[in-house]
Amino acid sequence: MATSAPPGSQDTAIAHVVGARPNFVKAAPVVSALRGRGAHQRVVHTGQHYDDRMSAVFFRDLGLPTPDVDLGVGSGSHAAQTAALMVGLEREFTENTPGMVVVYGDVNSTVAAALVAAKLGVPVAHVEAGLRSFDNTMPEEINRRVTDRLSDLCFATSPEAIGHLAAEGVSPDRVHLVGNPMIDTLLGNLDRFDAQALRARLDLPERYVAATLHRPANVDDPDNVARLTARLHEVADVADVVMPVHPRGKAAFDRAGLGDHPRVRLLEPLGYLDFVALTRGAAAVVTDSGGVQEETTILGVPCLTLRPNTERPVTITHGTNQLVTESDLVATLDKVLDGRVDERIGDTPPLWDGRSGERIASVLTRWSR
Ligand code: UD1
Ligand code: UDP
Repeated sequence: MATSAPPGSQDTAIAHVVGARPNFVKAAPVVSALRGRGAHQRVVHTGQHYDDRMSAVFFRDLGLPTPDVDLGVGSGSHAAQTAALMVGLEREFTENTPGMVVVYGDVNSTVAAALVAAKLGVPVAHVEAGLRSFDNTMPEEINRRVTDRLSDLCFATSPEAIGHLAAEGVSPDRVHLVGNPMIDTLLGNLDRFDAQALRARLDLPERYVAATLHRPANVDDPDNVARLTARLHEVADVADVVMPVHPRGKAAFDRAGLGDHPRVRLLEPLGYLDFVALTRGAAAVVTDSGGVQEETTILGVPCLTLRPNTERPVTITHGTNQLVTESDLVATLDKVLDGRVDERIGDTPPLWDGRSGERIASVLTRWSR
């Protein structure tokens, strides 16, 4: 049962549940802002991501406190992983009952934490609420909808999220437009993304396209991976391609021979500072990542998103993002590399100003009074 002391007081903590790479980047400014207010916090790592390059490097790069606990859940099918997450989180929240659970984004750790907290009567705050791709073939879309349904506080990163939540019957007094904490992290570290130093260290060419792909729809089916590999080889015929490979697609891209092209450079997943430096120095980015669509919007780097939809339309209306299919990737990239498209289409999305963590901390501490 929830304790009666307010979250963040000495008796009861605000528990941040993080587990996967993008969670760490989003949580860092919230944890930092709450620390500045003297709140009592607990960082719960589920262990959904566990390789040093998928997890610990972010804690080092971002100065996040070492997690108070690592549940070590690891990988599995959706049911197996979500079930293991729920069992681990139920034990954690029972032994160390928080006054509030803060969850981030749309990964399995997010929805598992929301379900467990809600059933234990612990209030839930969702950072990055209300994003919708309207595509239930994406596991993340299901996670987002369920998490928002269970959340007492919905922190929206962009205005259209408010409309989506209203359409689903979420009471407006639960919803707060706070901007984007992932962009807080980006802006707070701008002078640490050294594209020239990274280029020298990794011996990268002056002009390159950075690529990152990990969505099941792109990397799980070997035939699809073979088709994407052929397209990326065509891209490499005109510009070097540098791709830090997410573990999900590694075996499939290796089997398809992605690295066999002399102008394709495959890397291990990069730490945050190196990855954003890679992005910053790129002529263009090819991705299916949610976070990378947002970061390129602020960095002004053209972003080609290999997906039929995006839950982040502000990155198109206000940023450098465009959706591409596998068949129009090469032609679109040609245009981008020739400078035949605008790099930035609009103004920065509202409140993507580096102060979202503070706004979230302010609502969390006010809400608990
Ligand atoms: C998860 C999220 C996705 C997010 C992505 C960020 C879900 C449903 N998906 O996808 O929304 O965009 O994280 O990167 O939560 N693996 C390793 N080492 C690791 C972690 C994973 O080798 O440290 C491998 C395992 O083979 C694992 C596979 O990657 O089975 C997939 O990992 P998982 O966490 O299930 O999903 P992601 O594809 O990483
Ligand atoms: N990122 C990173 N190293 C990489 C690839 C991505 O540090 O090799 C960062 C990226 O800058 C962003 C976050 O990881 O901050 C996005 O995570 P990912 O693409 O895995 O997940 P998504 O945003 O699609 O959920």
